[in-house]
Amino acid sequence: MTAEWGGGGSSSPSKYHSVWLRRNCQCQQCLNPQNQSIVLSHELDPTVTLSEATISTDGSNLEMKWSCGHQGFLNLDWLRKHSYSSKVLEEGRKKISPLFATQMPQMDYKELEDDYGVWKWLKNVNEYGVCLLHGVPCTKEDGLEVSKKICPYLQETFYGGLTELKVEDSAISVSYGHGALEPHQDMPEYESYTGITLIHCLRNDRCVAEGESVIVDGLAVVEKLRKTHPHYFDTLVRVPATFHRINHTWDRPIHMVYKTPHIHLNGHGQVIMMRWSTHHDGPLQVNEEDVEPYYEAYAYLAKAIMYDKECQFHHRLEPGDMFTLNNHRMLHGRMKIQLNGGTRHLAVCTIIATVFEMKVHAQGGPL
Ligand SMILES: [Fe+2]
Ligand SMILES: [Zn+2]
Repeated sequence: MTAEWGGGGSSSPSKYHSVWLRRNCQCQQCLNPQNQSIVLSHELDPTVTLSEATISTDGSNLEMKWSCGHQGFLNLDWLRKHSYSSKVLEEGRKKISPLFATQMPQMDYKELEDDYGVWKWLKNVNEYGVCLLHGVPCTKEDGLEVSKKICPYLQETFYGGLTELKVEDSAISVSYGHGALEPHQDMPEYESYTGITLIHCLRNDRCVAEGESVIVDGLAVVEKLRKTHPHYFDTLVRVPATFHRINHTWDRPIHMVYKTPHIHLNGHGQVIMMRWSTHHDGPLQVNEEDVEPYYEAYAYLAKAIMYDKECQFHHRLEPGDMFTLNNHRMLHGRMKIQLNGGTRHLAVCTIIATVFEMKVHAQGGPL
């Protein structure tokens, strides 16, 4: 069935297949009052055909009959909104804009006092992958209040809901030590790794030298890779890397291993997420013929992440600064640091990506 839409919005015709219409029927036999589909998947006939379709007398629904004998309907506004015409899908693809160094969205904390400011903040994170807030009060409780503007609860990891990071002279862990932290994404060893990350600077004394933060738009880097070295891109989409975190000596011993490619695409070939964290690379276990092509592609991408200044943003975190970033897209790192007797103290918390998307949607923003 093909629908021609009038009025505003997309005016391109939308094609709907009989089986798609049957699977999404909104009659009481197919959809319960809680919007849960009760069409039984094992009863769906993929060869079903539409035998009749008419607009209801009030103009709100498309009423249908199928060859299987079922009669039902679909709301016309819903149908238009869920069009899968190539034009609509193409328009949907343009909502993610690669972030380059000159475009870092920055806002003042006070702007979050009203709904417009919250909408702008979420839109920036949704579209560019990151937003830098200035002037957030410098306690971890105040930082948590910011996160609650998105969601009342945090995405917990084995660190708990909120992690405090202080560089320490005696630290062994790379996160707490003085050395440079290569741009990375957090928790890649989790199947459902952390979504939105809030990095809040509580203290960074004047005497602390260097230690600049680096934010890299992973999406922009891999889109460049796709253009310049498509064979590397394909390898990193196809070959599963190993991510792990193993420490048997902790109070709560940990042994996590997860294997998945660095770059993930959706059904339209768009990059929807990447995973990259040098410090959590585990031993590669793939087909023998994939080992060398993998490391060739890996080494190239690692250099691009490190040295492609066009996709990077450098910033010395001042007390009250807070990055809100999409950990499925952006990488964060830090140059080496010298404390010189001072203190640098960050609080980090995370929110589930789909809960963030729900909030963006509720706030009227595009998804
Ligand atoms: Fe990190
Ligand atoms: Zn139905």
